[in-house]
Amino acid sequence: MKGIILAGGTGSRLYPLTLATSKQLLAVYNKPLVYYPLSALMLAGIRDILIISTPSTVPLMRALLGDGSQLGLRISYATQEEPRGIAEAFVIGADHIGPDPVALILGDNLFHGAGFAQRLQQCVASLDGCTLFGYPVSDPSRYGIGEIDENGMLVSIEEKPLRPRSNSAITGLYFYDNEVVDIARRLTPSARGELEITDVNLEYLKQGRARLIRLSRGNTWFDCGTHDSLLAASQYVQVIEKRQGVRVACLEEIALRMGFIDAETCYQLGVGMRQSDYGQYLTQIAYALD
Ligand code: G1P
Repeated sequence: MKGIILAGGTGSRLYPLTLATSKQLLAVYNKPLVYYPLSALMLAGIRDILIISTPSTVPLMRALLGDGSQLGLRISYATQEEPRGIAEAFVIGADHIGPDPVALILGDNLFHGAGFAQRLQQCVASLDGCTLFGYPVSDPSRYGIGEIDENGMLVSIEEKPLRPRSNSAITGLYFYDNEVVDIARRLTPSARGELEITDVNLEYLKQGRARLIRLSRGNTWFDCGTHDSLLAASQYVQVIEKRQGVRVACLEEIALRMGFIDAETCYQLGVGMRQSDYGQYLTQIAYALD
């Protein structure tokens, strides 16, 4: 399975923070925001990843993550010139996807929780059509909202509904079979001029092949698109890391746990950053994973 991180957009809801830099490079506690969606793809076992971003941000992303080989990944880059919608990722990424299924994650989405990695890996192994993730929210009108039957199959999807039929927000992590490329190519722009991810999902729903996995209590989801959600995500990561002594979205540790790199590589990556807690943590765990 291939992976795509969509890290485009102007981040205008975060102005002035994003006047001179990209939202996905802002700090969530002790790491750039893009580490969190990247960690989700890695935990799903995905190693071949395309990052789509604006022309001015791609060089910064490349400076941060390079070709991914230090993490045992293959990371490539493409540009989205204008914010023409989430579904455009499959048109821009068609060559990258090739004949494979694909997972798309929005560059500002942070997932964390017990059993989440296993959930992702099961989802990759059993994918048929599309699989989305639902998360209960108190303000459903801000999101795509899904309604499911007793088998977890989607029966309705509405984008930012005035009268939501459920409180299950569709998160920014989407798994699709290869048909998604053709579906995205056939889309026409919506009233707001974008290729809508909701229209892609509705096509799978029509075919009866759209599943929604509801993330239960014990799982956390943030989309860090506002000042408050960005701060809340930072506070969440700080509390978990300080209290439990674990790291959230520590890419080198995940690469080691997933078998993408060996202990010595992880240790040396830590040595390179040993002035920071993050680097010291890597040198401590490299040869001592529990
Ligand atoms: C997008 C999607 C929406 C989804 C949300 C999750 O909305 O259109 O369906 O619930 O991401 O982050 P946006 O944040 O672009 O308004």
